[in-house]
Amino acid sequence: MLKIIRGDILFAPDKNRYELWEDSYVLVKKGIVLSVVKELPLSCWNQPVEDFRNCLIIPGFVDLHLHASQWPNMGIGYDFQLLEWLKKYTFPLESTFSDMETARKHYESFIHELSASMTTRACILATRHLPATRLLVSMLRESGLGAFVGKVNMDRNADPPLLENTEDSIEETRLLAQEMQEFEQFHPDTLVHPILSPRFVPSTTPELMTALGKMAQEYDLPIQSHLDENLDEIAWVRQLHPGDLDFAHVYERFHLLKPDKTIMAHCIHMTEDEIRLIKDRRIFIAHCPSSNCNLASGIMPLRKYLDNDMLIGIGSDIGGGNTLDMRAHVQLAMQMSRLYYSANRSFKPVSVREAFYLATKGGGRFFGKVGSFEKGYEFDALVIDDGYKKGLPDKPSLETRLEKLINTDNPVLIIKKYVRGKEIQRSSLK
Ligand code: GUN
Ligand code: FE
Repeated sequence: MLKIIRGDILFAPDKNRYELWEDSYVLVKKGIVLSVVKELPLSCWNQPVEDFRNCLIIPGFVDLHLHASQWPNMGIGYDFQLLEWLKKYTFPLESTFSDMETARKHYESFIHELSASMTTRACILATRHLPATRLLVSMLRESGLGAFVGKVNMDRNADPPLLENTEDSIEETRLLAQEMQEFEQFHPDTLVHPILSPRFVPSTTPELMTALGKMAQEYDLPIQSHLDENLDEIAWVRQLHPGDLDFAHVYERFHLLKPDKTIMAHCIHMTEDEIRLIKDRRIFIAHCPSSNCNLASGIMPLRKYLDNDMLIGIGSDIGGGNTLDMRAHVQLAMQMSRLYYSANRSFKPVSVREAFYLATKGGGRFFGKVGSFEKGYEFDALVIDDGYKKGLPDKPSLETRLEKLINTDNPVLIIKKYVRGKEIQRSSLK
């Protein structure tokens, strides 16, 4: 069945270019974009049109890194830096997810907010608990949102009861991957996929990393983790692995840098060797500017990585980040790049267009053909009433409207939200 949607359409097929289609139509079949046209072809004249004239239609945002379990802690503990924050706030909260009622309450609230937000796809870490992670997976399936979800692995440098036994960690991770892949066989349209999620090098023993590296090959699984977020963290990794060149080369040695299938969050303090490795392996960088500010982790040299043609998306990193609203993260990515420029004039600030691209198609590439309205892309879209629905005569250009949307926290009305052509119900969960 053909779906025809009318409105003011904008998307960024690459970081240097917008496609701007004022009062136009996007044609979608089975969730996939057929074309964007100014005039409807004759063959479509008798077809129903979803008419959103004077509303903005843009690709949904991709949140490339967040911790669903840390949702209740969002905004708490930012007087501390990463390692202390993990110990004082994050680990104690995550350990409560052994209780299913607690997990259900927090994940329900999280999914309700994620559904209401401008995010259509997300790469999510849960906790190390298998039952609670299964619950999150089933809730995400029901929500209609697209996601990679991982059970966290952590078998060193935490206290019981959060600390895992190495064998259990391996077996539970394998079990979840098998279950989710079996589900995919019977539901090939599922939008929720497994992803291996070793917390970070200090949390995972060499034995566990070895097993996960093998599992990634055996089950063809993607991987997500953290890299070069904080200077004390980096010094700790050096202490734990004195024989490796650097943090990134530890992951490399354990086969955890799978080309096109791995996300490393933060990547703030990479050495030139690490930059080369991450680029050569085609690893996705999840830029998490809000978390990087809140935990005083540092300013990632976004311009440097962008101009080096690295794969980059934007992540909220909830609960290090303090909002699910991807607009705020796009704003901060630009603002921090301007601060970086003010101290180092050789790195030009990142533009609205570049930042918008990163938050849509940039991260969307991890999911396949996602984050754009080019032919063949999955139709993930937001229909937004940004105040011109009545067709006021002073309606600014599409580009200006996007700039305003992105650069402010002005309340806007999300009229519809689609993932692969299906509308997301934003109030079905309480
Ligand atoms: N490094 C290891 N675990 C975490 C986490 O939960 N949040 C952040 N921001 N960094 C991490
Ligand atoms: Fe994180």
